[in-house]
Amino acid sequence: MGGEMKLGSRGLKSWAQRHLNVGFAVGFLLVLLTYLVVSGQLAVTAPDAVATKAPRVADKQVIVRAAGDDADGASKRQSKEAAEEEDTSGTVPTEESPKTDEADAKPSAETTTTSKAVCNTDGPVSETCELDGDVRTNGSARSVTFVPASPSSERREWKVRPYSRRTMSSVDRVTVTQLESSPQQDPAASPAACAVTHNVPAVLFALGGLTGNYWHDFSDVLVPLYAASRRYKGEVLFLVSNLQPWWLGKYEAVVRALSRYDAVDLDRDARVRCFRHLTVGLRLHKELSIVPDLAPDRLTMADFTAFLRETYALPRGAPVIPTAERKPRLLLIHRAHYRRFVNVPEIRRAAESAGFEVSVASPRGDAPVEETAQMVNSHDVLLGVHGAGLTNAVFLPAGGVVIQVVPYGRLERMARTDFGEPVADMGLRYLEYSVAAEESTLLEMLGPDHPVIKDPDSVHRSGWDKVAEYYLGKQDVRVDVNRFAPTLAQAMDHLRQ
Ligand SMILES: *[C@@H]1O[C@H](CO)[C@@H](O)[C@H](O)[C@H]1NC(C)=O
Repeated sequence: MGGEMKLGSRGLKSWAQRHLNVGFAVGFLLVLLTYLVVSGQLAVTAPDAVATKAPRVADKQVIVRAAGDDADGASKRQSKEAAEEEDTSGTVPTEESPKTDEADAKPSAETTTTSKAVCNTDGPVSETCELDGDVRTNGSARSVTFVPASPSSERREWKVRPYSRRTMSSVDRVTVTQLESSPQQDPAASPAACAVTHNVPAVLFALGGLTGNYWHDFSDVLVPLYAASRRYKGEVLFLVSNLQPWWLGKYEAVVRALSRYDAVDLDRDARVRCFRHLTVGLRLHKELSIVPDLAPDRLTMADFTAFLRETYALPRGAPVIPTAERKPRLLLIHRAHYRRFVNVPEIRRAAESAGFEVSVASPRGDAPVEETAQMVNSHDVLLGVHGAGLTNAVFLPAGGVVIQVVPYGRLERMARTDFGEPVADMGLRYLEYSVAAEESTLLEMLGPDHPVIKDPDSVHRSGWDKVAEYYLGKQDVRVDVNRFAPTLAQAMDHLRQ
């Protein structure tokens, strides 16, 4: 080991070609999105505040509750629950703790007395609905119908973007309709008859969007999908709109571990499917992470990475404790196009002097995830310039170390939002190395008097375009190995503890 290696090279070639192009094109969009989120935060919150709780605070939730149709519980609950409650305080989590008067409800999903629609369409990031009761889908019509058990429910309609970022206008919305009353009360308002009745719950979500970018694959889909569906232990059906076969192929192991059933291509599904529980849309709690307060079963990002290690049968759950005989292994991610390290051999020698066994890898979009996961898991430390390759931290053993090299130009806040916080949430140690002007190729390209070098704040004030063009798009990094040495030493210290 220790030589140049590629992160895999075979499989899904034609998909991958497209994927790579898409990935490249959306690369900047990714950073723009998080940049905007971060700028927005800057405007309204203290500098050290994080976005963790923001979605929850800002979300407006509408809870509609109705009595169930079981004989023994219905009359008792009717008066209490038939009324529509509207909660605008924004503090009610999607997954509520059960009400005391539901304590005697029968445990199995088929006989549950719950009938409610909880939609959350005003959040800053995601739009979702949780539907319990009589739920019917017509995929090709992009419609979901909720038939309330209560005769006094009013008709309501929500438009839900099933991709985790509501701003993703390339992904079509789904219409969720709550009918006015139950069919027994008003046969004219009857929904279409069930062609298929499912006795497992379903999660409806969209692909497309920014998928194809490795970081977005995880942040926008895999992590929120895990949070939405893990509680079902595989007994859940995925209804996928904007279905991308290459994506399902690439992440098949993860999708299979979450759902035992073949995913339904929603856009081509004209049959009416009936469920007792349906989640519409995926909720992004926080970039590349999970907020336990918002997740069913209080799942954490560390749970997600443990799940990945299990899914890909990754052997290492903890890093090496360095000894004289056993060196920890450091993986240096060498980007191919921009934000590259220009002095890889020198960095490698510095890391070796610090006591690491070093591998250098170039991420490839067409690499089978299984191979990448195994390769990354065999290391203890991941080192790379800010970019999608650092997403591979999800495969490190818990307690491992990630060193993010932040390119010149005041990109620290974005770097922390995209990787710093997620990495800490994964149970890894996070180290950050900010590149000085002298280590940036922008200095020799533009000279010391250019505003990009002299005054990064002014570049940020001018807007996103120049930030993306210079700091993200035209910059490579020549690490000053003397300045970098203490960071490497710190990484080693973390492993000794
Ligand atoms: C589902 O929606 C499509 C498109 O609107 C429609 O043509 C079809 O009849 C619907 N299916 C049923 C069973 O209602």
